[in-house]
Amino acid sequence: MQLTLIKPDDWHLHLRDGDAMASVLPHSTKRFKRAIIMPNLKHPVTTVNMARAYRTRILAALPAGMDFEPLMTLYLTEDTPVQEIAHARGSGIIHGIKLYPAGVTTHSQAGVRRIEQIYPLLEAMQKHDLVLEVHGEVVDAQVDVFDRERVFVEKVLAPLHERYPALKLVLEHITTQTAVRFVCSAGPAVAATITPHHLLYNRNALFAGGLRPHYYCLPVLKRERDRQALIEAATSGDPKFFLGTDSAPHPKGAKESACGCAGIFSAHAAIELYAEAFEARHALDKLEAFASRNGAVFYGLQTNSETITLVQEDWQVPAEYPLGDNTVVPLRAGQIVHWQLIGT
Ligand code: NCD
Ligand code: ZN
Repeated sequence: MQLTLIKPDDWHLHLRDGDAMASVLPHSTKRFKRAIIMPNLKHPVTTVNMARAYRTRILAALPAGMDFEPLMTLYLTEDTPVQEIAHARGSGIIHGIKLYPAGVTTHSQAGVRRIEQIYPLLEAMQKHDLVLEVHGEVVDAQVDVFDRERVFVEKVLAPLHERYPALKLVLEHITTQTAVRFVCSAGPAVAATITPHHLLYNRNALFAGGLRPHYYCLPVLKRERDRQALIEAATSGDPKFFLGTDSAPHPKGAKESACGCAGIFSAHAAIELYAEAFEARHALDKLEAFASRNGAVFYGLQTNSETITLVQEDWQVPAEYPLGDNTVVPLRAGQIVHWQLIGT
């Protein structure tokens, strides 16, 4: 069986920088025409000038002849000058601004501690019609790690949406039934991305026969009923839900460690894994909207004109891929993926 789709876009991607970026970029460009590039580099991308320089580095690292458009984002801080919002809007290269609660995930220390501090920035974003991308977890060590998204939605996001109902926001990499319900019941300015790993795995994967660091990401995998809610949302045809891999490569040694980093690398088989998840729900006919249309419409961009074709054919994922001077262990390492991209 073959499946031809409008070439998808990845609405949440970590490309890193330097040699690591050059290693992972071809995996994404084969499958995706555009991607929203996360700004959580070691030195966060907080200004339009930094984003422009990062974009130039990405374009310079593209495989020859590859037509790929990095959609840049800024990393929101309490010190971001309010003029930077209009500047971002006018730049033509910035498509969103990312809110990391400080300390929530990889390279988020420069993020936001008190949400009230960024009200003027949110107001400016609402006015200039710039998308806010949200890492939706509270940082509070008192809150159970599996409840951090739910508590964020209830305590932070719902009031924020009420305060700025026209502010376009994407709740990134949703993992819970609570998040799905919030997005469905919120106004049209609210949407969400869903990763392949949260569609395919529940938290048992973290502990299958031992501790499995390569299944550790943030927000962490949740229980089966949450996974079911995500599958239902992704395959529902509701345009509020779209593809965002959150592919987040870390060197093998940084994952296989006493204090392993959060992040799952999925760019090597991203659209193939989504196809598996949709097929399991007999919903392959809904994949194109989720992967190739809904996100573009939400971000106010054209749908791509190219296509990709997948064939239902097993292949074995390598144990590792190069990552600069290191290697990265990909999702499904050494195991079978049931769909294959033609022409790779
Ligand atoms: C991401 C990373 O490594 O940059 N990690 C992750 O677990 N998803 C950051 C993020 O999106 O939280
Ligand atoms: Zn991410």
